[in-house]
Amino acid sequence: SSQAELLVASNRGPVSFAIGDDGELLARRGGGGLVSGLAQVVQDTPDGDGELLWVCTALSEADRRAARSAPGGRLDQVGFDTGGASVKMLDLDRVLFDRAYNAVANRTLWFVLHLLHSPSMEPSFGASFRRDWAAYEHYNSAFAEALAEQAAPGACVLVQDYHLTLVPALLRQTRPDLRIAHFSHTPWSPPEYFRMLPDSVAAAILQGMLGADRLGFLAPAWAAAFRDCCAEILGAQIEGDTVSAGGRSVRTSLYPLGVDAPELRDRASHPDVRARAAELRELAGDCRLVVRVDRTELSKNIVRGLDAYREFLRAHPEWHGRVMHLVCAYPSRHDLPEYREYTAAVQRLAAEIEDEFGTDTWLPVHLEISDDFPRSLAAMTLADVLVVNPIRDGMNLVAKEGMVVSAEGAVLVLSREAGACSEMAADALVVNPYDVTATADAMYAGLTMAPAERRARAGRLATVAGALPPRAWFGAQLAEIRSGP
Ligand code: G6P
Repeated sequence: SSQAELLVASNRGPVSFAIGDDGELLARRGGGGLVSGLAQVVQDTPDGDGELLWVCTALSEADRRAARSAPGGRLDQVGFDTGGASVKMLDLDRVLFDRAYNAVANRTLWFVLHLLHSPSMEPSFGASFRRDWAAYEHYNSAFAEALAEQAAPGACVLVQDYHLTLVPALLRQTRPDLRIAHFSHTPWSPPEYFRMLPDSVAAAILQGMLGADRLGFLAPAWAAAFRDCCAEILGAQIEGDTVSAGGRSVRTSLYPLGVDAPELRDRASHPDVRARAAELRELAGDCRLVVRVDRTELSKNIVRGLDAYREFLRAHPEWHGRVMHLVCAYPSRHDLPEYREYTAAVQRLAAEIEDEFGTDTWLPVHLEISDDFPRSLAAMTLADVLVVNPIRDGMNLVAKEGMVVSAEGAVLVLSREAGACSEMAADALVVNPYDVTATADAMYAGLTMAPAERRARAGRLATVAGALPPRAWFGAQLAEIRSGP
């Protein structure tokens, strides 16, 4: 098959497969911020950009089957609708993948980047971590090899996220002709935290990324933290937004991803979303709605959010019977015990609130753990208050999606540690995510805000949310990478 001019590499691809009742393969859209941002881009790669190839891993058994049935792993060649792009799924050894994805990327790097280690969960890097890290190196090499093989001379390669930090330097070694960018969809942590990693691992990650021509981040604080790590750990020189180390100078750029407002509003007007909105409205009755939508993810801080709602109900009996908290959570990363325990903790706390306040006629909280995008969208359209309180978050697209589809002029309660806060602080109610009482107070302030004020704020927030939609976000990165050093 022909080589591509434009390549995207990420662990999770735009489609994943499930096996249906009759044993057939069913394709569905992948979840999470990275795919939300990129999936739309590939559907309409503009003319003249050449072919776009997306390289990702086969995540499920069904993905592996799909990859095996496609010549060269290229799904477009067996008739799957992957938008305008070609998709190549790497069918990696399962043990290797488990170590690279679960043990290193999600259990170690994700925790370090989101400040999730607590005194009872300090990481400990012994021999088993060295073994897992070797798998992460192999996994990155497998991507670098596939990209080197598939890229046309001088092609642009856009590498995504913390799973693939070593790819830029590895790829540059074999293909110095390529233009390589790396984009981080996560926060970055300050050096004193990042240095928890073994020294050689911390240095390898930074050096691997510095193999790129450009490094993209979602918010100023994350790019600054990355540069600080390079200065302290590699002894790099920093000048403005440029990092120089090992004879290379690499610029760190900001691309604050937003949402495609017209497209999302259109999606929200479809019958499937409307039907779900009607069901939820009936469930809530006359109650005002405090809504949240998240993956069941430790960094999203769902437990403190529920705790805050409980404090709000304890402090404001006048709201009993008049408000409902709707929590839509997507199951996520359940191979890791920390995530399973976290989901259980969310369920327990929701049940406790129900026991403390629920009556025959009032449901104070409704928790849904399911993978139902139209249902989440419906919940967002109904929100009076939208709660987005992560401990840390690269951007948080729910804050933006929610404001764009809000029919009620929702009040946004927003963590100051979400990347979105660098754009949305002026009109959101900004909270410290660890401060449960302040979060409870913000919920109350949101529910009691005068209608004219909430509509004015919501309108401005919706405008901000649509400022850099996926196509423009992707196009700007491509233009920068093509324009040379
Ligand atoms: C975050 C990460 C993405 C990831 C997504 C879902 O948004 O930045 O890289 O795809 O979470 O996580 P998962 O492990 O299910 O791919």
